[in-house]
Amino acid sequence: MSFPYQIRSFDEYKAAYKKSVDDPEGFWAGIAGHFYWRKRWDKVLDWNFREPKIEWFKGGKLNITENCLDRHLGSFGNRPAIIWEPNDPEEHHRVLTYRELHNKVIQFANVLKNNGIRKGDRVCIYMGMVPELAIAVLACARVGAIHSVIFGGFSAQSIADRIIDANAEFVITCDGAFRGNKEIPLKNVIDDALVQCKFVKRVIVLTRTRTPVSMIKGRDVWWEDEIKKVETMGHPDYPAEEMDAEDPLFILYTSGSTGKPKGVVHTSAGYMVYTNYTFVNVFQYQPGDIHFCTADIGWITGHSYIVYGPLSAGATSLMFEGIPTWPDAGRFWDIVEKHKVNVIYTAPTAIRSLMGFGLEPLKGKDLSSLKVLGTVGEPINEEAWHWYDEHVGKKKCPIVDTWWQTETGGVMISNLAGITPAKPTYATLPMPGVQPVLVDEKGEEIEGNDVSGNLCIRFPWPSIIRTTYGDHERCRTNYFATYENMYFTGDGCHRDEQGMYRITGRVDDVLNVSGHRIGTAEVENAINMHAGVVESAVVGYPHDIKGQGIYAYVIYQGSHGDDNLSRQDITQTVSRIIGPIAKPDKIQFVTGLPKTRSGKIMRRILRKIAEGETEQLGDTSALLDPGVVDEIRNGKL
Ligand code: PRX
Repeated sequence: MSFPYQIRSFDEYKAAYKKSVDDPEGFWAGIAGHFYWRKRWDKVLDWNFREPKIEWFKGGKLNITENCLDRHLGSFGNRPAIIWEPNDPEEHHRVLTYRELHNKVIQFANVLKNNGIRKGDRVCIYMGMVPELAIAVLACARVGAIHSVIFGGFSAQSIADRIIDANAEFVITCDGAFRGNKEIPLKNVIDDALVQCKFVKRVIVLTRTRTPVSMIKGRDVWWEDEIKKVETMGHPDYPAEEMDAEDPLFILYTSGSTGKPKGVVHTSAGYMVYTNYTFVNVFQYQPGDIHFCTADIGWITGHSYIVYGPLSAGATSLMFEGIPTWPDAGRFWDIVEKHKVNVIYTAPTAIRSLMGFGLEPLKGKDLSSLKVLGTVGEPINEEAWHWYDEHVGKKKCPIVDTWWQTETGGVMISNLAGITPAKPTYATLPMPGVQPVLVDEKGEEIEGNDVSGNLCIRFPWPSIIRTTYGDHERCRTNYFATYENMYFTGDGCHRDEQGMYRITGRVDDVLNVSGHRIGTAEVENAINMHAGVVESAVVGYPHDIKGQGIYAYVIYQGSHGDDNLSRQDITQTVSRIIGPIAKPDKIQFVTGLPKTRSGKIMRRILRKIAEGETEQLGDTSALLDPGVVDEIRNGKL
């Protein structure tokens, strides 16, 4: 497969960018024309950010799986689509060619059909990183069901909240998942979640760990048994469901500044075109390259750059079940050497954690296949950038620092590997089609260079969020109401003298812990559920490995006289309510919180104290009881 829209020089980038701004419809129509459509669109774009209502390739009919699978079969059906590396290096890896993946997706699409799943149904997928997870995702897309993948680290309560919000009547899971030396009992977690979700009709369970599970009669079925049924039916085909360009493809929940996670909705055509375009251009994908994105498919990075982007481009996507530090901190490098990986795409937190093990784990590892390194999820610090460049890329591989979000569907600001300039800690330049704007607190645009402000985007790109599931107003107020006629990202940003962008972090009450987005309100709600907790306030603080750590100030009256045990109790509660990823790193017991006369918690002050800047707290005159600050400051952990 060749990509006439692959940018090959800085000049070509400039020309593409200019065209994308001067004539966005012509620009994107030119790219969309290279995909397989059952019927072409009637209108490229209809939009307003007021409601918002955004429609790309209106009237077009397609199925994304025909673009990810069927259209590749003729010329390279035997090319590996997925290489799967298991958690345990002693276990055999698996390779699925495009033809094999196509067959398995069709088979499982029939399983979905036999189990009553139809176009438009919501299907919750809670699985480990096994090839069947990608198969389940694609099979949903094939039948037109809307998948909602939930990361394996979320608790039963979080899963229940998401299943209820999406009104998902179907669940696909595994008996368990292997991660490092742990075995996570996924089905048991699902069973706990489903106590609250009696409306769930069917749970399909894949065998992976042979963890004992309970199977509820009439509700739960084994994946393998269902496949056998399809086999005895003589392997029927499953012609892809014809989808409208704007039919929802998936829901993915992410944290915002309010307590409840939002179901971000992406639709078929725009998401497909944009993830493919960015995959091909950012990583400069060449046919035959092996692309290793280390994310979990439970996050947007996995959706876009393990599944849909690479497969729509006919690439070979490497999926890894385990973690970077097991059996030892050389695991990524073993995988690169074993599978001759060309592109590795990971998070700064993983790089920082591996840096902590020194250079020993890299010794003797052949990394010569690497051509491109990528990072995503949080700002990368200079030290980590240089370590990645020197010790992994041997100063020969461009690093792409890709800034984007669950809501943007694909990469928004990034250099193009080896084509446009890189600058450490800078995401650099916008992708064609992306028009960044910096605004001040009042919503005035900040023009010129060497300036900082809140990052907004002026014009829609094909994979922009369409709605938040079941609550369109929430989508409007969250993203389109802060600044008129602009999408607000929630991030702060600096534009340097050359017009390059550096993301400085969230400006709202959202934390970024190890590249995972967590709302402070969400953590506070969970802490407040613990018996004896009167009130709490959560802020982020700089953490060497995680980027940000979670610092909780808690007014607690339930103490059994052992503060450490109380802290563990609270942590346990957060783990139960949200999941281990949201556990506070530090808990400080306080008798009061700094509040304004109107009762608002002054987080600015709490943030400063958590950061250790106890002397420069700024103006505290608006506080109801300034004395509380001294107490908190003196008690700092
Ligand atoms: O703050 C930005 C940060 O991650 C947020 C989006 O998180 P999420 O929706 O979970 O998606 C992460 C993977 C796309 C952003 O608002 N972020 C993401 N990439 C970068 C980044 N911050 C700095 N540099 C990046 N490259």
